Amino acid sequence: MTPNPRSAHVAILGAGIIGLACAWELVQRGAHVTIYDTQTPGRGASWAAAGMLAPAFEAAAEDGAHPRLFDLCMESAALWPAFAASVSQASGRDLGFSPGPSLALAFDGAEAAGLHRLSAALTRHGVESEMLLPEAVWDIEPAVSRGVHGALRLPTDGQVDNRAIVSALIAALGEHEAVRFVTVPAPLEDRDGRLCIEGHDMILAAAGWNTAAIKVRQNGEDFSLVNWDTALDEIDCYGGQMLSVAREPGLPTMTLRCGAIYIAPKPDRVIIGATMEPGRATLEPDEDTIAELRAEAARLCPAIAYAPELETWAGVRPGTLDHAPLLGKTRADGLFVASGHYRNGILLAPVTAKIMVDAMLDGKTSELAAAFSPARFAAATA
Ligand code: GLY
Repeated sequence: MTPNPRSAHVAILGAGIIGLACAWELVQRGAHVTIYDTQTPGRGASWAAAGMLAPAFEAAAEDGAHPRLFDLCMESAALWPAFAASVSQASGRDLGFSPGPSLALAFDGAEAAGLHRLSAALTRHGVESEMLLPEAVWDIEPAVSRGVHGALRLPTDGQVDNRAIVSALIAALGEHEAVRFVTVPAPLEDRDGRLCIEGHDMILAAAGWNTAAIKVRQNGEDFSLVNWDTALDEIDCYGGQMLSVAREPGLPTMTLRCGAIYIAPKPDRVIIGATMEPGRATLEPDEDTIAELRAEAARLCPAIAYAPELETWAGVRPGTLDHAPLLGKTRADGLFVASGHYRNGILLAPVTAKIMVDAMLDGKTSELAAAFSPARFAAATA
């Protein structure tokens, strides 16, 4: 039975942007929340990210993607302004949020053809974009190389300072009387077939690529959560390496991308990303890869070659084969999941929170939300 929203106690396993955004939505709707994470909150994939809010570039024409992923991304992009405003107001912090636009650049015929394909895909989705000639590109962003052939202006693709939003959520939630942060492993147990944590009505697993490995106590022994729903096994790790440079005059001020490379200026730094390395789970960046990333970014904006380096790092994206998250009830009684957001964890945080809290507190699942149920992998894993 769905508990009364005003008295529901929810345990969230994972203090990344997904767990934090769900906690935020839960307390707005009157629930009590305990957030379990043995690591420092917000310092996993959410910290390693670049804060791209990019439904067009990262979902509209993505090979092999879930057929509704773009719709989910667009729904979340529409929720971002209100989400950012509420977290900014509650925390008193600037989040570096911009709803867009971004520029996707082309430097040769093949890259230009890619932009035309993306533009056509967006048109099929009923979303506008605009092809720009070099002069128009330099008018908008003078830092772009004189070698640019053209660009696609993407009004839907914005960005946020990912570290600012997770820090602001942690601060706002930390001051909320209905929230507790706990740093010991969640005491999750199977009691007669139902997954429980003492004092809680339901459990949300949101531990990124570690979700399947969450421990469950049963008959005095620990087992991995994946044994309760094999769909969790679909969440794999996709490593990403990145760097940041000092924000100096002559560097871009708007989000730029070309192929795998993006440049995301934040208030105090410029992030350059990112590799996409299936199976890479180490947090150590590799010197040669970072040098290649910077060289590629300098092809887009030559001044990047001379900017002082601030930081290099590697993170781990949790991804599924269809590049879309698992959202909703699992096969295990009492357990919900929100994980596997691939390249779109920051973008999808508000819609994930809405979908999960609708399901957990009101027992409601929209037609769009149902398309992302973990049950879609049942056939593959049965
Ligand atoms: N969304 C940016 C990335 O995954 O690299």
